[in-house]
Amino acid sequence: MSYADVYRRSITDPEGFWMEQAQAIDWVSAPSRALFAEKAPLYEWFKDAQVNTCWNAVDRHVEAGRGEQLAIIHDSPITHATKGITYRELRDRVASLAGALRAKGVEKGDRVIIYMPMIPEALEAMLACARLGAVHSVVFGGFAAHELAVRIDDAKPKAIIAASCGLEPGRVVHYKPLLDAAIDAAQHKPAFTVIFQREQEVAKLIEDRDFAWHTFQYGVEPAECVPVSGDHPAYVLYTSGTTGQPKGVIRPTAGHLVALNWTMTNLYKIEAGDVFWAASDVGWVVGHSYICYGPLIAGATTIVFEGKPVGTPDAGTFWRVIQNHKVKSFFTAPTALRAIKREDPTGAFIKEYNLKNLQALFLAGERADPATIEWAQQHLGVPVIDHWWQTETGWAIAGNPLGIELLPVKVGSPTVAMPGYDVQVLDEGGHPLPPGQLGAIAIKLPLPPGTLPTLWNAEERFRKSYLTTFPGYYETGDAGYIDEQGYVYIMARTDDVINVAGHRLSTGAMEEILASHPDVGECAVIGVADELKGQLPMGFLCLNKGTNRPHAEVIKECVALVRDQIGPVAAFKLACVVDRLPKTRSGKILRATMVKIADGEAFKTPATIDDPAILDEIRSALKTLGYARS
Ligand code: COA
Ligand code: AMP
Repeated sequence: MSYADVYRRSITDPEGFWMEQAQAIDWVSAPSRALFAEKAPLYEWFKDAQVNTCWNAVDRHVEAGRGEQLAIIHDSPITHATKGITYRELRDRVASLAGALRAKGVEKGDRVIIYMPMIPEALEAMLACARLGAVHSVVFGGFAAHELAVRIDDAKPKAIIAASCGLEPGRVVHYKPLLDAAIDAAQHKPAFTVIFQREQEVAKLIEDRDFAWHTFQYGVEPAECVPVSGDHPAYVLYTSGTTGQPKGVIRPTAGHLVALNWTMTNLYKIEAGDVFWAASDVGWVVGHSYICYGPLIAGATTIVFEGKPVGTPDAGTFWRVIQNHKVKSFFTAPTALRAIKREDPTGAFIKEYNLKNLQALFLAGERADPATIEWAQQHLGVPVIDHWWQTETGWAIAGNPLGIELLPVKVGSPTVAMPGYDVQVLDEGGHPLPPGQLGAIAIKLPLPPGTLPTLWNAEERFRKSYLTTFPGYYETGDAGYIDEQGYVYIMARTDDVINVAGHRLSTGAMEEILASHPDVGECAVIGVADELKGQLPMGFLCLNKGTNRPHAEVIKECVALVRDQIGPVAAFKLACVVDRLPKTRSGKILRATMVKIADGEAFKTPATIDDPAILDEIRSALKTLGYARS
């Protein structure tokens, strides 16, 4: 079957198409149908099934004779260590951890927060929750205590599983003090924590609240897989919205299994026994779908990589991992390739390794710029496939289905809509636009299986954020166009979300923190173009009347405040003091115009601007920071 046939069938006969895909999953009790539209525009898939994610990701492969195959390879250039875990070992470790969690009272539906670095134990913690039907919420290690506290208060976890430390080049990330501070700051208190003590830093445990990973499992009864209903949340993953309150994206169990399984064969061309590597972090959606669940559901070997594209120890690390572990499909973010390209423009490191097993490179997380794609195509000699998706969808909205057929690559486009996604470009009034015209990208409801059914504890926010602007559609928050051949082009965000090194961040959240500084009266944060990270946040601060402290001092404090509150991942280092912010007459800050000035792009002074002279002040402030060059 061609891609066109597969896609057409998914749109004209979604019930038949998805029920057929569902056959690849081991059900405790099979779904009677695929789509449940009773609560439209809220949709659910395979709701009446009974199933367990951990069984499908682990146990069934042992039963099928894959017990001795590696399930996980941990490759950690930062600790100079490599180790493997077979499917049988993984099953036993996960069953034991789940048994220990259960012995302490964790049950189906309870939430468990996981705050861990890139070690196999992070996946084991996720799978142990899945085994019990507990709902995990992984928090990225680069977030600080405040962000963790916000998530604790929203998810109200019974337990938190963390490691004693993370390791960044040249610095130990002290997780335990961050965790303690977060628990202190949160209203909700977890019943207990489990701490994986790493040899690089052993953390102090609080008696009766913190339990050490190994001792906590001593003598426990291993847990079996607990069946859950198809609509049961497999996990909640928080992602940035337009305010400081992150959105808790719910991943429904059954749709997640069916959709990820489909993508492994049809998009990534990976079968049981193959090696798949996504060089992301378990704290992001890519890590959930393609470090943990996708490859394991498919019976493949997944790689947990603890390192950076450059500097651990050099720009050849990725190629070494691909060679040594015989990686077949590789997934990374364009920013990682840009970092490598900057250090190794001629691809000299690539030539040092044998990449004969590599069949394709997949890119996502941010717009893939043509120069980076072309560099990778030239030096790797395999298809370089950009694909577009979001935390909300959990798998690709648009991609190039290598496992079905490789469609011609058009550099700058993540190719075509994946099954079940009716992608359209709409004008402001919600009318579909003809090919080639730029507009808001929306997806006609229902979204396919595996995508978010709603937000955790926030159904109204879900409706308002995604379903209200264009009734009958899901609003992606991205803008772009579709060409005559159906190729999708993603050009920009329509909201105040920015993308820094493939990390999705909220400028609104940063503004809330800057505004809490006693000398800051008003502020705005925008994303400015950056050659390496795609975008960088930049803050504009208007100081309170009467503040006569040196500007440099206030800026330094503001930079420290964002790092302390959101975390180093915000990469907030650029700020300037201005007298006023450019606004419309109704008081809306003209952030888009400020971005254009910073990036040196042509723009029209908005007709609604209150005082055009402010734009010159902004331009000169930006010039002092090395921006606003045209
Ligand atoms: N725990 C703690 N801190 C972390 C962290 C983690 N898991 N991950 C990143 N950080 C810190 C970094 O150490 C850095 O701190 P610093 O300000 O003290 O230097 C800060 O957060 C910003 O990190 P980052 O934006 O990643 O920049 P970098 O300079 O460390 O590395 C790249 C630049 C391009 C090499 C890196 O961003 C990269 O590999 N990106 C790939 C992103 C990716 O895979 N995204 C997933 C989407 S698919
Ligand atoms: P996240 O939820 O963190 O995965 O971020 C999702 C957002 O990242 C999308 O809405 C896009 O703005 C951007 N994004 C992800 N993948 C791509 C891509 N391939 N091309 C362009 N933008 C992308």
